[in-house]
Amino acid sequence: MASKDPLVFFEEWFADAKSAEKSDPTAMALATSDASGNPSVRMVLLKHADTAGFVFYTNLESPKSEHLKARPRAALCFHWPVLERQVRVEGSVEPVTAEEADGYFSTRPRLSQLGAWASRQSRPIAGRFVLEQAVAAVALKFPVGTVPRPPYWSGFRVVPDLIEFWQQRPFRHHDRQRFTREGAAWRQEWLFP
Ligand SMILES: Cc1cc2nc3c(=O)[nH]c(=O)nc-3n(C[C@H](O)[C@H](O)[C@H](O)COP(=O)(O)O)c2cc1C
Repeated sequence: MASKDPLVFFEEWFADAKSAEKSDPTAMALATSDASGNPSVRMVLLKHADTAGFVFYTNLESPKSEHLKARPRAALCFHWPVLERQVRVEGSVEPVTAEEADGYFSTRPRLSQLGAWASRQSRPIAGRFVLEQAVAAVALKFPVGTVPRPPYWSGFRVVPDLIEFWQQRPFRHHDRQRFTREGAAWRQEWLFP
């Protein structure tokens, strides 16, 4: 555990996870809460991380997006079982820019792009055929060339104010290191396991 900047630290652990893990190391649990404070959690994929924060993409009309509009705070949790590591993040949430979202959307496979148009994420559906019909309709709308980003699909950035690194050790004598943002600096503490 060498670095004092937790985002550089994260980059190091993330690189380790990309080399070591068998399942997708970008998968992270995302916790949000609704306007009444009721929590919910689901998996999303980390698409970009740097000193500004942790970015994921989703449907802007989904429950998670509604939560984040009402309460722009979130928690993330990564688990990398081969490395026996966990990283927890808490912070405020902001939308990514349209340019960022367009840039990422343009890199997605065409069928994923069409799926983003077709999905009314988390709303009830009469059956799988309804999704297939919706994808077929969008494919007719954009038969060739670039598929533009749907106006209801974009990303959010979790801007961390707390990051905790957990490393499993024998006999539950684990290492826990917590970083808390204090203005421009980070306070670093070790925690009992
Ligand atoms: C490994 C994994 C990765 C996922 N990645 C995403 C993602 O990046 N964006 C997304 O909108 N949903 C993703 N999902 C689906 C979400 O977990 C969830 O079902 C969906 O976003 C609806 O969530 P909501 O109803 O809370 O808004 C993923 C699911 C799994 C299991």
